[in-house]
Amino acid sequence: MRAPIRGGRGGGRSFGGRGDSGGRGRGFGGRSDGGGRGRGGRTPRGRGGGRGGGRGAGMKGGSKVVVVPHKHDGVFIAKAKEDALCTKNMVPGESVYGEKRVSVQNEDGTKVEYRVWNPFRSKLAAAVLGGVDNIWIAPGTRVLYLGAASGTTVSHVSDIVGPTGLVYAVEFSHRSGRDLVNMAKKRTNVIPIIEDARHPARYRMLVGMVDVIFSDVAQPDQARILALNASYFLKNGGHFVISIKANCIDSTMPAEAVFASEVEKLKADQFKPSEQVTLEPFERDHACVVGGYRVPKKQKPT
Ligand SMILES: C[S@@+](CC[C@H](N)C(=O)[O-])C[C@H]1O[C@@H](n2cnc3c(N)ncnc32)[C@H](O)[C@@H]1O
Repeated sequence: MRAPIRGGRGGGRSFGGRGDSGGRGRGFGGRSDGGGRGRGGRTPRGRGGGRGGGRGAGMKGGSKVVVVPHKHDGVFIAKAKEDALCTKNMVPGESVYGEKRVSVQNEDGTKVEYRVWNPFRSKLAAAVLGGVDNIWIAPGTRVLYLGAASGTTVSHVSDIVGPTGLVYAVEFSHRSGRDLVNMAKKRTNVIPIIEDARHPARYRMLVGMVDVIFSDVAQPDQARILALNASYFLKNGGHFVISIKANCIDSTMPAEAVFASEVEKLKADQFKPSEQVTLEPFERDHACVVGGYRVPKKQKPT
C-alpha cells in the first residue's frame, strides 16, 4: 500500500478522475469552469478547462490536499473536494501552460510540487482517466513523442519519466515548435525536434532507441507514420500508444469502424494492439490504442 502524501496549498481546476480503480468520477467532465467539453459541443477553442486559470473547486488556496499515487507509476491524484490528475513537477515553481500547481509537504518536511494534468487538453490524460490499463510510460522510460504541438502533454510525460528518462518530441509546425523548444530549455529530459514525422531519416541522428512511441499527429496516414518511426527507433518488444481521431481519417464512416480499420493497419505492421479506450467525455470520436511492437513469440514448452 502506497502512503498518501499530505498537502498544503492547492489551487487548481479539478478534473477528477477514475482514481486507481476505474469507475468514472463526477466533476471533471462538466462545463462549470466555462471551458469543459461536454457531449454537446466544443468551445470556440475546441478545448476544455480553459487555459488553466481560475479556481478549482476543492483545491482552493489553503485547503488541505492529499496526493496519492495513481496506478500508473509517475502519475498522481490530488484528492480534495474533487480529484485532479497530476504529475510531479520536474521544474518546481513553474507552470507550462498556466496549469495549477499543488505543493505538498512530506513527513520529513521536504516539499514536493505537482502539476494538475487536464484531460481536456491532453489525450494521454483522457486515456488515463478512461481507465487504460498500461501507458508504458513510467519513470526512466525513453519515449518518442510524435505530434508534440507546443508541449502541453510532452511536459507531463517529461514529469512522468523524470530525470532518468528521455522524451524525443517531434513537431513539424514551427509556430508550436517555438513553445516546445522554450519548454525544453528548462526540462533537460526533453529533446525537441522540429521535423516532419513522415521523414524519420531526417532526425535519426538525434534519436536513440526508445521503449515507447506515443503518437498524436491527427493525420490520415498516422498508422503509417507510427510504423515508419517504429521501424527506426522502437525496440523489439517495445510499446506504442496512439490517439486516433476518427474524423481525421474518414469523416464518412462511423468512428468505431475507423478505429477497427486503424487497428487492422497496425496489426499489418508488426504491432500487436492489446487495448483500446475511447476518450469520451473529454474528446468526441477519439480512441486511444495501446499495444506491443514485434512482440517475441512465446516459446513452445519442450
Ligand atoms: C492533436 S495535435 C497534438 C497535441 C499534443 N499531442 C498535446 O497533447 O499537447 C497534433 C499535432 O501534430 C502535429 N503534426 C501533424 N502532422 C505532423 C507530422 N507529419 N510531423 C510532425 N508533427 C505533425 C501538428 O502540427 C499538431 O501540433
